Amino acid sequence: MANPKAHLMDWLRDAYALEKQAETMLEAQASRLENCPDVHARIEQHLQETLEQQALLEHCLTRLGTGPSLIKGMTGEIVAFGHAVGGMTMSDEVVKGAMRGFVFEHTEVAAYTALIAAAHAAGDDETRRICEQILPREVEMGRWLLERLPDTVAAYVSRSAEGRDDAKR
Ligand SMILES: [Fe+2]
Repeated sequence: MANPKAHLMDWLRDAYALEKQAETMLEAQASRLENCPDVHARIEQHLQETLEQQALLEHCLTRLGTGPSLIKGMTGEIVAFGHAVGGMTMSDEVVKGAMRGFVFEHTEVAAYTALIAAAHAAGDDETRRICEQILPREVEMGRWLLERLPDTVAAYVSRSAEGRDDAKR
């Protein structure tokens, strides 16, 4: 049995780990998509949001009593995984990356939705407010990725049919 605050801290740590993973994934995607200016700009924007969200979560964790060294220690493995996902080199990586990105953003949507309820149950209004501030950005990024997916696929398929080298980007 654990009290509501212990659950909240646990799930905040999970969300923090997700944001670290998001950082490496978005960085890898941004460096790959330099010849696609609008996508690149949106990825960069979400990368900045992601870094800001990491700072907000660190603030929540520190306030609840998780020390900075503990926060640092939990991210190594996760960051490595983010690199793997963000840096895939399969030929249709642009399409698979967009699909994975969509799923990832929705994992974050679920995480922050759960955190809002957990913060409410723990009576932690500040954490609840912070998570309510983050949630719409994740919803928006997921929406944008889905909206853009058909164009991404169409562009990839036509470049691929022409046998162009930049099809995979
Ligand atoms: Fe995100």
